Amino acid sequence: MRRLVAGTGWKMNIGAADAARYATDLLRRLAKLDCTAIDMFVLPPFTSLHAAAAAFGESPVATGGQNMHWEESGGWTGEISAPMLVEAGCRYVELAHSERLQHFGETYELVRRKVDLALRSSLTPIICLGETALEKREGRADEVLAAQLLAALAGQPDARVPDVILAYEPRWAIGTAQAASPEYVAARHRALRDILRQHRGPDAAERTRLIYGGSVDPENGKDIISIADVDGLFVGRAAWKAEGFAKIIELVVAAAQGKSASLTAATA
Ligand code: 13P
Repeated sequence: MRRLVAGTGWKMNIGAADAARYATDLLRRLAKLDCTAIDMFVLPPFTSLHAAAAAFGESPVATGGQNMHWEESGGWTGEISAPMLVEAGCRYVELAHSERLQHFGETYELVRRKVDLALRSSLTPIICLGETALEKREGRADEVLAAQLLAALAGQPDARVPDVILAYEPRWAIGTAQAASPEYVAARHRALRDILRQHRGPDAAERTRLIYGGSVDPENGKDIISIADVDGLFVGRAAWKAEGFAKIIELVVAAAQGKSASLTAATA
């Protein structure tokens, strides 16, 4: 069974001092919850990474970067490398977030190079995929997702595919008033698993985690995480306070129990 994931990207919010306070608050809220069955990550801005990693310490909440360069070092003013993320305590790196595609001209060709370096650096890449509102209207969502997925993973052997986390984040649902409906999310996640099966084989399709992001909150998150092909929630605004992220984590912990119980029943 795939381990469920609860994650948050802080975007350009929460400086170093607030990051330490957030971590202390979150760990206090999680103290009574058994989170051992799920994976949790927080993606602070670069300047908050050390403070966050120190405050989360040996707890099960891991940290990650929101981006990185495709080279390990060199004349790339203003950039951050994979070894720097590792040194700052990161276990994850987010790649291809729609805000980076939209405002910073990132392409999936660059993402492919970043995925390769992240995997070679023992970072888990969280690769965002998602269609625009126009592509959705034109009925091209699954075609767009397939192209993004295959481009990001090009050159990786099938056996490496489960080492990434794929985040389905419809671009029209990020930072907006409404998440995608559970039916819509279920259809896209099913399509993503079919694309994996067709191009990367049954093992990659079965083992690769597919998480959903885009206006998730503690209310709509419950229905979304209970979808069979959804392996986690990736949250922005609703988790920028520790209280909000703690509520999301509770939902994911409950879903992990539910999914493992139904799997046991199905195989009994
Ligand atoms: P919101 O939850 O604020 O829509 O942001 C989602 C997101 O960008 C996750 O990567």
